[in-house]
This record gives sequence, C-alpha cells and structure tokens, in this order.
Amino acid sequence: MNEPPSTGSPTDPHPAEASGIRPADKPSPVVAHPMPLIRTRKRVADHGEVFTPAWMVTAMLDLVKGETDRLDSRVLEPACGSGNFLVEVLRRKLAAVEATYGKADFERRHYALLAVMCTYGIELLADNIAECRANMLEVLADYLDLEDTTDAYRAASNVLTLNLMGAAQLRRRSSRLLPEPCSFGICVA
Ligand SMILES: C[S@@+](CC[C@H](N)C(=O)[O-])C[C@H]1O[C@@H](n2cnc3c(N)ncnc32)[C@H](O)[C@@H]1O
Repeated sequence: MNEPPSTGSPTDPHPAEASGIRPADKPSPVVAHPMPLIRTRKRVADHGEVFTPAWMVTAMLDLVKGETDRLDSRVLEPACGSGNFLVEVLRRKLAAVEATYGKADFERRHYALLAVMCTYGIELLADNIAECRANMLEVLADYLDLEDTTDAYRAASNVLTLNLMGAAQLRRRSSRLLPEPCSFGICVA
C-alpha cells in the first residue's frame, strides 16, 4: 500500500536556524506543490531514497559557487534522484549564460546547450532518471523558450539521455561509457 508522501512544510522553521547556522537562501514561504522528500518507506529502505530539501541544495551549492557559475565546469551527481542538485546547477549555469550572453541570441543558445552538456548524473531507479531528464529539459526549454519540435530541444533531449544514466544504461555501456578519462569540477556525493 502506498504511504502519503512526507514533504515537510516550507513554512516550518528552518532546522539550521536552531543550530545558529543561517541558510544561504530559504525557500519561498508560498510553494504550491512542495517536492516530497520521501515517496514511500519501502523506497527509503530499499534504495535510500530521501530527497534533499531545496534550502540544503542551495546552501551546499553556494559553497562551490565558482564551479556552478563556470559554464564549462563539469558536474557529476552519482545518485541524482529526480535532479534536485542537477536542476539547480543548470539554473545557476543558465543564470551565468544570461549574465554574459543575454543579449546575443546565438551565444545564449550555444552556451545554454553547453550548460546541459556539462551536467552528468547516475541513478539506480528508472522513474527517477526519467524525471530528472524531464525536469532539466523543462528548465532549458523555459529559458530558451523552446518548442519540443525544435532542433535545440531535440539536441538537449539527446544529450540528457546520454549524460543522465540509469542503472540499465550503465550496465550496457559500462565499457564504453566515456571515450577517455573525464574530470569533473564538482561531484555531489
Ligand atoms: C538520498 S537519495 C538522493 C537523491 C538526490 N541526490 C537528492 O539529493 O535529492 C539517493 C538516490 O540514489 C539512488 N541510488 C541508490 N543506490 C544507487 C546506486 N547504487 N547507484 C546510483 N543511484 C543509486 C536512489 O534511487 C536515490 O534516488
């Protein structure tokens, strides 16, 4: 039987405040559908699936701001779930694209796609990796105002299929995953 998801409340006092640590950025007090942190107890027990709250993602990524704002910095999350970290990394990279190339249409699109190309994830569960790809694609499509019929949308979709790997995909491709050693600016672990 499915259990109700545990979301916590976005208006709850921030746990870090009790310890005297001020979060870098608290979530907006008005959130229509907060992301559940837990789907079911079974998934927690079987796969350790507990999602990271937005305030913690923000605080952690603020510690490596130099990397998330650098367009060609590669980021790997080896247990990416539905993309709480990777989506925020992409948002930050796109903010850097906008700051640098916001007025140059070709470069804006080019570097936005590069931002997608520089984010990698691995995830055991097929539904999570599909959600992660969809979440990232939505962020890019919103930013570039892309229809799903455009070349840029399809290019990004293909990149995300390659860069965000589910367990089955990893098994099939493990020996030819990357053509040569690849270094990462950040590995979220
Ligand atoms: C603690 S959750 C964190 C998810 C996400 N990183 C976040 O912060 O919201 C851990 C995730 O790792 C996945 N996972 C568990 N074992 C794994 C494995 N051996 N390889 C890749 N992913 C795994 C789970 O399915 C789950 O989505």
